Amino acid sequence: MGQLKLTLASLGLTLAVQKTNPDFWRGKRVLLTGHTGFKGSWLSLWLQSMDSTLRGIALDPPTNPALFDVARVAAGMEHRIVDIRDFAAVKRQMDEFQPEIVIHMAAQPLVRYSYQEPIETYATNVMGTVHVLEAARHAGSVKAVINVTTDKCYENHEWVWGYREKDPIGGHDPYSSSKGCSELVTSAYRRSFFEQAGIALASVRAGNVIGGGDWSVDRLIPDVLRAFETNTPVVIRSPNAIRPWQHVLEPLSGYLMLAQALYEEGEKYSSGWNFGSNDEDAKPVQWIVEQLTSKWRDDAIWAQDNGKHPHEANYLKLDISKAKNQLGWKPIWNLDQALEKIVDWHKAWLSDADMRSLCEQQIAAYQSDIQISQA
Ligand SMILES: NC(=O)c1ccc[n+]([C@@H]2O[C@H](COP(=O)([O-])OP(=O)(O)OC[C@H]3O[C@@H](n4cnc5c(N)ncnc54)[C@H](O)[C@@H]3O)[C@@H](O)[C@H]2O)c1
Repeated sequence: MGQLKLTLASLGLTLAVQKTNPDFWRGKRVLLTGHTGFKGSWLSLWLQSMDSTLRGIALDPPTNPALFDVARVAAGMEHRIVDIRDFAAVKRQMDEFQPEIVIHMAAQPLVRYSYQEPIETYATNVMGTVHVLEAARHAGSVKAVINVTTDKCYENHEWVWGYREKDPIGGHDPYSSSKGCSELVTSAYRRSFFEQAGIALASVRAGNVIGGGDWSVDRLIPDVLRAFETNTPVVIRSPNAIRPWQHVLEPLSGYLMLAQALYEEGEKYSSGWNFGSNDEDAKPVQWIVEQLTSKWRDDAIWAQDNGKHPHEANYLKLDISKAKNQLGWKPIWNLDQALEKIVDWHKAWLSDADMRSLCEQQIAAYQSDIQISQA
């Protein structure tokens, strides 16, 4: 009688061990779009620390101050100012640099700004993605591509469960819907072109990313730190809105692991991936403000902004079972640790510390905590 043989693979599970492998990244030719931004600067520093051959294409840093300048990110990479809405310019970079791995992060990333500038948002986030994928397809060198979208790409039902990778894509506001479109573009490019060409292509959806060096407008942590600095009350729009908060190094470690898996094993990993926080770190805005306040100084106060604001999702969580089970990725720093790192970072910046070296220390600490979590 035939025996029923259950293997991890037959159940769609693997026992991968979480790693961001410096040996893999040494000398790899990586083209990163959006390297002058908050997440792009952190990822650039991480790739530089592993000796990747890195070229970044983006516009000038979107804020002033900017992590890109403060941490002297350009010092360890090829830095090019290129508008991804200009296909010829993107293609020139791709053809000339001949990357093996492309990580596409450049975007107009702000919900409220997208209500003011929907055309710019769609042009950058949708056609910009088409341009990057089309240029990657023709470069002749690319083996793996990651398109960074967002947790907001899912059609939001305001329900209490985390969104899974197979849930419908959607988006209420122009930003969210532009990222939903970017997901659809990714899926069409995978099936129409990349599968035949042997290029592995995945999209990644992270939660609300926090960390030192974010000066964006309309984001909670930068708004709170600005209020602390100026001794003014913290004014928050939606104290009860729940988001999957996570330190910026968390999703970045997922992107690095996934890029390696795409490069080495291809098709198996060519799909959408959530890299969110653990369930207990999906917290209301008010909780974050109170924690940050107690870590900064006790007498800071906050107030609710009762003005009229455009619609933003109220409840948003990601299900991260797929990344945990199939990639071996998991969150390392909880929310409390993430807030500690931010406060340390920001206080160091206020006291004129060497911020490149502080970022490098935090990256090294994160990598060492990965090792500890496996012990
Ligand atoms: N920060 C978050 O909480 C968060 C959460 C989920 C997803 N994301 C996504 O991660 C990515 C990076 O976000 P971020 O927070 O670092 O944003 P950011 O605003 O700090 O950086 C955006 C980057 O995109 C570049 N860019 C914008 N328009 C461009 C154009 N037309 N041509 C070339 N480059 C252009 C900017 O120059 C910058 O380098 C985005 O795709 C964003 O949607 C961010």
